[in-house]
Amino acid sequence: MPQIAAQIKPLVRAVHPRLPRGSGDPSQMQPAALGKLRQNSEPAMTASAPTRITLPRPDDWHVHLRDGAMLQAVLPETARDFGRAIIMPNLVPPVVTTADAVAYRDRILAALPQGADFAPLMTLYLTETTDPDDLAAGFASGLIQAVKLYPAGATTNSASGVRDFDKVRPVLERMAEIGLTLCVHGEVTDSDIDIFDREAVFIDRVLDPIRKATPGLRVTMEHVTTKNAVDYVRANDDDLAASITTHHLMINRNHLLVGGIKPHYYCLPVAKREEHRLALVEAATSGDKRFFLGTDSAPHTDPNKLSECGCAGVFSATNTMACLAHVFEAEGALDKLAGFASENGPAHYKLPVNQATITLEKQTDPAPFPAQIQTGEGPVTLFNPGYPLMWRVV
Ligand code: DOR
Ligand code: ZN
Repeated sequence: MPQIAAQIKPLVRAVHPRLPRGSGDPSQMQPAALGKLRQNSEPAMTASAPTRITLPRPDDWHVHLRDGAMLQAVLPETARDFGRAIIMPNLVPPVVTTADAVAYRDRILAALPQGADFAPLMTLYLTETTDPDDLAAGFASGLIQAVKLYPAGATTNSASGVRDFDKVRPVLERMAEIGLTLCVHGEVTDSDIDIFDREAVFIDRVLDPIRKATPGLRVTMEHVTTKNAVDYVRANDDDLAASITTHHLMINRNHLLVGGIKPHYYCLPVAKREEHRLALVEAATSGDKRFFLGTDSAPHTDPNKLSECGCAGVFSATNTMACLAHVFEAEGALDKLAGFASENGPAHYKLPVNQATITLEKQTDPAPFPAQIQTGEGPVTLFNPGYPLMWRVV
């Protein structure tokens, strides 16, 4: 990747120079058809545009660290730039009880590089048999920051998720009572609902009824991908907020499908139309405190991505801050990046903003990100937006 990126002069009109062709070979380029989509996101270069910004150390409000050899490999990628992260519990078997979360937290801490300034924020995986007392005890102890709702079958390792929402009503009521946040994977799983409509239908059929039935329940709509979700958050009160991923700010469904399928852009919820991406960019860069970063960085090995039935997940932990600086600069909104990446999330989770800071600098040469990271389970390909990233964390 660096060699290819180096051939591209900074700030040329972005044309997806590094998108793989249908062969899936990342060294093949696919220059033309998608270029138009990028015109809006080309950073404006003006004499007064800042080239160096300092933010409170950001947090990632949604990340998959996995376990074992994969955890060992991906944790340093998150711990490098982020102070804290909400750790997704969709292991096999899932992190269901407070005891499971204690054990997982300890494995994460043991895998942290020496001297890392990083704290994992643990979540529990909501099942139809979750014990409200266990969850409340985990929250009271300070360990559990949120509970994750996966509709059964919605995504990777969601088989133990919820089928009958009435069965979790007592747990949700307890959560509302104690102020514990529900993180929601917002997609219905009905086979007759088109995959591109599943988020919007979830809001109407599941989320809105749950929220009406459970006043005071704090909810994070995770990795929102539609204008419908942005509008829904805006129309409601501060108990509701949404995380937005790096990749959903940068790709739409054409990037995934036009000119050959790009397995490394496949995730759930799947990227939507350009109008939805634009709504996400607008929300993220607006300064509205209800929108914050949750990368949903979700590593899968290349063999598992580049397969007849490829896994959903985009791995963006390594270059997320460079990507975000690009997006915010393109919107003339670098001054809103601290809110999105460092301040709005803690406000929603009622935690202090990190005291440490990071500095991002715009370079004249593209930042040298690797195409892949190596893990004990195999290579994991890094999110590649298709154009050079000029910002890097210094
Ligand atoms: O793309 C995704 N990957 N979406 C999810 O909801 C789960 C995640 C994973 O665990 O791989
Ligand atoms: Zn996720």
